Amino acid sequence: MRIAVIGTGYVGLVSGACFSEFGVETICVDKDQGKIDRLLKGEIPIYEPGLDALVEKNAKAGRLSFTTDLPTAVRGADAVFIAVGTPSRRGDGHADLSYVYAAAAEIAAALDPDDYTVIVTKSTVPVGTGREVARIIRKTRPEADFDVASNPEFLREGSAIEDFMRPDRVVIGTDSDRARQVMRALYRPLFLIETPMVFTSLETSELIKYAANTFLAAKITFINEVADLCEKVGADVHDVAKGIGLDNRIGKKFLHPGPGYGGSCFPKDTLALVKTAQDYGSPLRIIETVVDINDRRKKAMADRVIAACGGSVAGKRIGVLGVTFKPNTDDMRDAPSLDIIPALAEAGAIVAAYDPAGRHEAEKMLPGVEWADDAYGALSGADCALVLTEWNEFRMLNLSRICKAMKAPVLVDLRNIFNPEDAEMAGFAYHCVGRPGRVKKAKGEVH
Ligand code: UDX
Repeated sequence: MRIAVIGTGYVGLVSGACFSEFGVETICVDKDQGKIDRLLKGEIPIYEPGLDALVEKNAKAGRLSFTTDLPTAVRGADAVFIAVGTPSRRGDGHADLSYVYAAAAEIAAALDPDDYTVIVTKSTVPVGTGREVARIIRKTRPEADFDVASNPEFLREGSAIEDFMRPDRVVIGTDSDRARQVMRALYRPLFLIETPMVFTSLETSELIKYAANTFLAAKITFINEVADLCEKVGADVHDVAKGIGLDNRIGKKFLHPGPGYGGSCFPKDTLALVKTAQDYGSPLRIIETVVDINDRRKKAMADRVIAACGGSVAGKRIGVLGVTFKPNTDDMRDAPSLDIIPALAEAGAIVAAYDPAGRHEAEKMLPGVEWADDAYGALSGADCALVLTEWNEFRMLNLSRICKAMKAPVLVDLRNIFNPEDAEMAGFAYHCVGRPGRVKKAKGEVH
């Protein structure tokens, strides 16, 4: 089988590499000549563990190639995946579909009239987009033999390949039996490992993606608010999460409290679904509230740091560990650090930071930050250590060594990567999210 994937962003590149690993001949297309040139040389434009090896292996085997030539890639393909960006539209929060529709028009012009093609939306697109893609193609090429399908992608950055290769489920929305057969054939390796497949309509599939992301965003927001309450009543949010998460109806994942969710999906998708629901006169008030709470939470985190520093950070040095929105990525989109660090600088702090992969991206977005080459470099002489991303390498840091190298022993851990007792034993005044310190903790079994 042969496919074309339009757009070599996160979703496009990972999907393309993984389909080629399934044995499908895959051509990835992008308008950005520089990006394609780099990919042809084996340089991967994003940081994603395992992706470089997968691209190299499949490119060498001749199953994976890269081009700016969309018409050639589309002609003769069994399926064409649209995986271009759908950013938030400035001003109103709706998903900006201009790239999707432009891709649809270009695909239409390139379709081979003698071949049947399935056009698949892989980008996260609002309900109704698939029908509009079909309308655009039919209008341009009334004679073309094609169907449209929706096949949302649920991969997470940092574990994208594993998520694609071993997903909890695959969702395919289409009205056409023929398109279903093509999609079934493309995902054959996942049938072999008994991955559940949800075949449904276009609209339902489009909504599943938004419902999944907004539900997860709500789950995180719920535990964040419970963490705040834990702080007031002296309870431990990790035990609350464990205690409720062991109920299978709730599930234990996505109950880790922090500075608020960020990234390329949750902030954009929650907002887009809120707008869609309002447009249809069926508002999702829970998600409206989630969006509001999360925005406020990210902004309020700087106040926590200021309070931990005794009410003022003016002239104080804050050493930040991690700036990306989550570990194992260099992605800075909607990272909480983008709210917290400027607010601290505004309050007069001098900010030094270290991130294992995000510095290059972050330098452009966080001017004025002093960048260190490792964690100890960022924290040496600091008045406060601030953990913003839970990179694994931070968990193993020698807290006593850090405490001695700092000017004041204040540790604000907004990802709860340290044990409160260990941090206090090392000499820190330890502030985390929703967990009492040694002094406040009641006796009893914790782990
Ligand atoms: C998310 C979805 O998980 C994925 O299915 C979808 O395809 C794209 O969006 P991603 O943005 O890569 O993936 O990251 P994810 O691991 O879901 O984390 C999103 C944000 O939520 C991060 O800022 C993370 O720190 C935060 N988060 C996640 C928490 O604060 N607590 C948690 O328990 C989980």
